[in-house]
Amino acid sequence: GNPIDHSLSPLLHNFWLKKHGINAIYEKQLLEKNDIEKIINDMREHKIQGINVTVPFKKAVIPFLDQLSDTAQKTQSVNTIFKKQNKLVGDNTDVHGFSEAIKLMNFNLTKKKALILGAGGVVPSIILALKNMGTSEITLSNRTKKKADDLKKNFYFLKVINWGEAIKSDLIINATSIGIKQNEQIKLDYSKLDSQLFYDVIYNPPQTKFLENAKKTGKKTENGKSMFVYQAMKAFEIWHGITPEV
Ligand code: ATR
Repeated sequence: GNPIDHSLSPLLHNFWLKKHGINAIYEKQLLEKNDIEKIINDMREHKIQGINVTVPFKKAVIPFLDQLSDTAQKTQSVNTIFKKQNKLVGDNTDVHGFSEAIKLMNFNLTKKKALILGAGGVVPSIILALKNMGTSEITLSNRTKKKADDLKKNFYFLKVINWGEAIKSDLIINATSIGIKQNEQIKLDYSKLDSQLFYDVIYNPPQTKFLENAKKTGKKTENGKSMFVYQAMKAFEIWHGITPEV
């Protein structure tokens, strides 16, 4: 990925590797777009056994792979690469990560309305997860409207509203990077939002202004930590055939 400073994946994977006595290491590499081909070739030449991909390369890696899983195909987003009979397969475990995070909150999405803020790298996975869980209406709002409209090509059912517009929904998700810097906040009229659950993809800081404001009005809130942990768990399972303990 790029940037990668914030990534806690090495900590988590190396903890599990050690725990299961697997002779491997997981390390992070800061790449430019031009480096993608080489690192994928390193995997073909068995120098690397598996790869996680993060922003902004989740789509850019696709042309270098041999196959895509169903979820990677549907989201056009790859975060996990593994080998199957010498073919490089691109998979997506973010969909699983987000679904698990919502299930853990005992939040039933059937026939519910969701509002997503942002249109960055992780959003196609969130849309697919929401759809798979039975969400009846998914609305999206992004500062750059074109990026929101582009998502409609893959997800025809998506409704797009203007940035800053507040609508009533059952679940609202912050998938923008606003809040990573302390005190940064999304300009929204909270009195017009009616969601029961406020979810932020950000987990560091653990409580963004978005979640803090929601908590003040008595809403249920959750940060992105469980999504992060469960996408990693699924990737570990794919590579090593072991379901690690969370
Ligand atoms: P990428 O776009 O490279 O995938 P990301 O961190 O996944 O990166 O996405 C950043 C998201 O936060 C985008 O939806 C971005 O909106 P734009 O598409 O308009 O850039 C949003 N974002 C970041 N800073 C923002 C700000 N100050 N105001 C509104 N939206 C912001």
